[in-house]
Amino acid sequence: MNHFISPADVTDLNQLVTSGIVTKRNPFADQELGKNKTIGLLFFNSSLRTRLSTQKAAQNLGMNVIILNVSQDSWGLEMEEGEPGNPIIMNGAKAEHVKEAAAVIGQYCDVIGVRSFAKLQDRDKDYSELVFEQFRKYAGVPIVNLESATRHPLQSLADCITIEEFKVKARPKVVLTWLPHFKALPQAVANSFCEWMGGMDVELVVTHPVGYDLAPEFLGSAEVIYDQEKALEGADFVYGKNWSSYTNYGQVLVNDPAWMMTEEKMDRTDNGKFMHCLPVRRNVKVTDGVLDGPRSLVIEQAANREWAAQAVLKEILLGIQ
Ligand code: CP
Repeated sequence: MNHFISPADVTDLNQLVTSGIVTKRNPFADQELGKNKTIGLLFFNSSLRTRLSTQKAAQNLGMNVIILNVSQDSWGLEMEEGEPGNPIIMNGAKAEHVKEAAAVIGQYCDVIGVRSFAKLQDRDKDYSELVFEQFRKYAGVPIVNLESATRHPLQSLADCITIEEFKVKARPKVVLTWLPHFKALPQAVANSFCEWMGGMDVELVVTHPVGYDLAPEFLGSAEVIYDQEKALEGADFVYGKNWSSYTNYGQVLVNDPAWMMTEEKMDRTDNGKFMHCLPVRRNVKVTDGVLDGPRSLVIEQAANREWAAQAVLKEILLGIQ
């Protein structure tokens, strides 16, 4: 594996899931692999799980870790290139161009992880993934997606590992349900979850209010059911997430508390497990009863972020030895 930006960078999804599960059983088996190698983790946005799990995974592999909160600790980065005859004139707030910054960080680091969320103002701009394209172009080293405008593949890999570990049927029914939230959130986790479930042997159903349809290229062949209670029937896994509208880009069209996940709704499933990437707002998106009850997998799921990151970094390190 060279980069880990989207599933297109992964040769064998099932092998990567297995690698994560094997790594969990013996986390320090590859401590020599990352010796004298450095990973730089660049955060344009906040993080708890991604930051700690990726740092821990890199350390398990013997790597050195440098963390930079880009917006707070370093110069603001200009991402735009300009055009022939219409160059970018950097007389605004951003003091450094990604062309130099990425190339310089690539001199210090053997691998670079980047987190940069959607700004939710211009759909074409967000979906062009400019930040990742620029780092891929100019860093000269492998790039790992720590959540981009449209994807969160380390989260999705951890989700795949969790479903593989907890499934009790060969082909479980997995329901991705929209949950209410007052603030506009990106589609990245939902997009990525659909994309990765497309590579797993599951029946994927997506349920959300009208107006919240995901981009078709991410939804794939998943069935969409606008009636949440009907969608939940017989589910083995319920994956909760809020996202803002893709069609009315970045807007909160409805914030109906009737979409919150409750124990009564979980009773419609086939003893289904509840998953959420976290952070989650209690009693806004999901009740205490679900989160604190025996059907919640949110802590196990977060724990698997470490093994997902380690499986990915191992593949990358094998490619740069
Ligand atoms: N799920 C997830 O990415 O968590 P953080 O935003 O805390 O990293």
